[in-house]
Amino acid sequence: MAIPDAQTVTAVQHWTDRLFSFRVTRPASLRFRSGEFVMIGLMVRDDKSGKDKPLLRAYSIASPSWDEELEFYSIKVQDGPLTSRLQHIQPGDQIILRPKPVGTLVHDALLPGKRIWFFATGTGIAPFASLLRDPQTYEDYDEVILTHTCREVGELQYGKELIDTIRSDELLAELIGDGFHEKLRYYPTTTREESPKIGRITDLMRSGEAFADLGVAPLNPETDRAMICGNLAFNLELKAMLEEYGLEEGANSDPKHYVVEKAFLD
Ligand code: A2P
Repeated sequence: MAIPDAQTVTAVQHWTDRLFSFRVTRPASLRFRSGEFVMIGLMVRDDKSGKDKPLLRAYSIASPSWDEELEFYSIKVQDGPLTSRLQHIQPGDQIILRPKPVGTLVHDALLPGKRIWFFATGTGIAPFASLLRDPQTYEDYDEVILTHTCREVGELQYGKELIDTIRSDELLAELIGDGFHEKLRYYPTTTREESPKIGRITDLMRSGEAFADLGVAPLNPETDRAMICGNLAFNLELKAMLEEYGLEEGANSDPKHYVVEKAFLD
């Protein structure tokens, strides 16, 4: 039986025993805004009917809108309905990709500002991997700060390589500038393994340590914009903190100071 909305896997990379990324062909007609997500999945045998049915989950597109292919970054859950299977895909395999991108983590949902913060935990970095490779991000802001909190050092590798790739990309490097005046700031932290910066970003902001390290003032609705993507507890805690700083939540139809989206887990 033909798979509906099939796309072909072109590359797979395993980062840790819990994380992998993969690239697939892009439907010629698919247009999306950096930061949006689509539904992707596999055909899975339904125990009751004995028939194959699509099993789909929301995945942020990690690649920028100018890329010829689409990239995704995923957790592997050993007994997860989708990711227990998806983690075994190989180049040449087909997946389902519904070409209907949506999402709140888009530039259109924010008012103009001077500095944008991308706050991520775990696989929540995926939409920012798209936004950080979008020239508009550097055209719209004087400063772009990515914070990424993970349990272990190995879980930071995808983000670290992303930042290296951006800094060595000819076009993006020109927009970002170099050395002392570079617009792009990267602030990785771990919570359960030694690394140069230990602690949850929320705690590091509360104590003032993160702002001191970065040499910036605490968030201010006059200048700062933010996007949040991580586990539910993180999203809620950081959302409350941003509200305390005076930032208000925006939407596509009503742009304001910050937007939030949960990472989609199996
Ligand atoms: P911690 O190890 O202290 O729980 P997970 O893999 O469970 O999704 O977590 C990813 C990262 O997010 C971990 O480093 C975790 O820290 C951190 N985290 C979990 N909850 C919160 C929260 N409410 N605020 C900030 N960071 C959090």
